Amino acid sequence: MKDTAKTRQQLIDEIAVLRRRVGQLEKSELQRGRAEEALRENEEKYRNLVESTLDLIFFVNARGNYTYVNPRFERVTGYAAGELAGRPFTHVVAPEYIESTIERFRRGIRGGDTPPYEAELLHKSGERIPVEFLVTTRYDAGGRAAGRFGIGRDITERRKVEKTLREQREQLRRLAVQLSEAEEGERRRIARELHDQVGQNLTVVGINLSVLRSLLPADGMNPVSARLLEDSVTLVEQTTEYTRSLMSDLRPPDMDDYGLVAAIRWYSERFSLRTGVEVHMEGREIHPRPAAVVENNLFRIVQEALTNIGKHARAATVRIGIDAAEGRLRIRVEDDGAGFDPSRIRRAGEHHGWGLMTMAERAEVIGGSFSIASRAGQGTLVSVEVPL
Ligand SMILES: Nc1ncnc2c1ncn2[C@@H]1O[C@H](COP(=O)(O)OP(=O)(O)OP(=O)(O)O)[C@@H](O)[C@H]1O
Ligand SMILES: [Mg+2]
Repeated sequence: MKDTAKTRQQLIDEIAVLRRRVGQLEKSELQRGRAEEALRENEEKYRNLVESTLDLIFFVNARGNYTYVNPRFERVTGYAAGELAGRPFTHVVAPEYIESTIERFRRGIRGGDTPPYEAELLHKSGERIPVEFLVTTRYDAGGRAAGRFGIGRDITERRKVEKTLREQREQLRRLAVQLSEAEEGERRRIARELHDQVGQNLTVVGINLSVLRSLLPADGMNPVSARLLEDSVTLVEQTTEYTRSLMSDLRPPDMDDYGLVAAIRWYSERFSLRTGVEVHMEGREIHPRPAAVVENNLFRIVQEALTNIGKHARAATVRIGIDAAEGRLRIRVEDDGAGFDPSRIRRAGEHHGWGLMTMAERAEVIGGSFSIASRAGQGTLVSVEVPL
């Protein structure tokens, strides 16, 4: 009796346990159903995303063979997913990019960092497609590298825009060079005219005047005529001097015969005489001589730097350094004058000078760079550097 009762009690307990288990199972089954539903929804969301995106998406396994490519990848490369499945990822990479891509893959699989990069893919038809990629390594549950996951973007359009931009910039530069050459040609023409027409005539007038003076009797001359004659002689001398200096400004005389350094030396000596500022110059002629357009623009830059020193710096000394090494020509013009704050000049509306801007433009025309460093009370350093 006792046993039977015990058995009954046991049965009741067991049934209760079973019920609880069934209940739990039902609950977890429900949860699993819900989780599967959520997973399905998620999966669909991601699939939609992956299949409709304009980016190229792919997975490769740890050996580098494709396990998945999205429709965009198929469109851009011309291969169906089935044709790529199991093939090495290099199948669609342009030959010259294969080595670097394999290297990057190996580094990635070893856990190394692989930043975004650009490469070219080969379309099935042989056409090249520039693509920017970001590829990351995937790991399995045990932390082992399981393969790589990549996103790529077709950058054909970007490349086209970059190319057009480059071409236009180059065209602009060529135009600027032409302009600068035309400007220099015009200066030369005016200098020649001044020399051949005005200069020659002035010389003749000067000679005539002195002949006239020698022919006239020194004592019996009318004082008014004598004064007019002396006046004319002085005027002819002054005008000759003025014309000569104008010609020199238009065309540095030493440039054609001796080159840039001679022209700069000649100009800085004149500058020194005119302003009283001491000029120290270091530099030897550059061999072979740079193109005329390079020499001319560099000369004009130095000329403006010196003009600025004369106008603004109140300097005692200027140092000019010219040196050519490793295919680059560097010129520095440094003064010990008042200095200024270049950032203030750059702020719009504060300034109307042309000099600094023109110097920078001239440097750009000849493919070089220009910089100016200065601080109030610390002097100014103008540097220009061009490839030879
Ligand atoms: N060597 C220098 N020392 C002191 N200040 C300078 C020097 N060079 C330039 N500056 C300052 O920079 C300003 C801009 O120079 P920039 O050559 O552009 O113009 P500008 O000489 O005033 O006029 P422009 O050159 O058009 O005749 C000058 O007004 C001056 O204040
Ligand atoms: Mg100036």
